[in-house]
Amino acid sequence: MITSNSYQPKEFNLSGLNGISDKTLEVHFKLYQGYVKETNNLTEKIAKFLEDGKVDQDEMPAYSELSRRLGFEYNGMVLHEYYFGNMKRDGSVDPDKQSNFTQAAEASFGSYDIWKADFVGIGKMRGVGWAMCYQNPANGRLSNHWITLHETGNVSGFTPVLVMDVWEHAFLLDYMPAERPKYIESFFSNIDWNAVEQRLRAEGSSRPATI
Ligand SMILES: [Fe+2]
Repeated sequence: MITSNSYQPKEFNLSGLNGISDKTLEVHFKLYQGYVKETNNLTEKIAKFLEDGKVDQDEMPAYSELSRRLGFEYNGMVLHEYYFGNMKRDGSVDPDKQSNFTQAAEASFGSYDIWKADFVGIGKMRGVGWAMCYQNPANGRLSNHWITLHETGNVSGFTPVLVMDVWEHAFLLDYMPAERPKYIESFFSNIDWNAVEQRLRAEGSSRPATI
């Protein structure tokens, strides 16, 4: 049942990327739409348990399982929106040297190259998940993190500014499983640094980031 609270899948115009085929994107958009659907489904099912104002003891196992799954599906939905939202056709490998991102990377890591070595290194880690660059809204600092699946490792309250999906479904039609580094290289050639820039905190403000 679609209600006014239901999420709708967003549209991303991403055909013609460099090194990430339209077929991969087509499959990936379908997976993303599945996360949106399941987020809505689980939210609705959990609401049913709450209709009588309480969670009965005999409902607890099913309620717990659905609530745990909600973290997986919800983060799956949101992370894909960040990921697709930070790529574009004719993107650029590196941000402008004068950009707020470059300056934040230099302030946080010493140089953009060290920031990148860390982010790429995280992307190459074995396992199923995501490489994330966050900004701490309290002090503007950038830090890179690994997320297992979609939900383990998210830093509460931090703002995702660059998000890279390294699940194999993100590249398996274009590369062999062991070729994740090539996919990461392709990802970098498609980055929409303007989108990244928009997510950064405006200097001196706590303006919320946009996806
Ligand atoms: Fe994905």
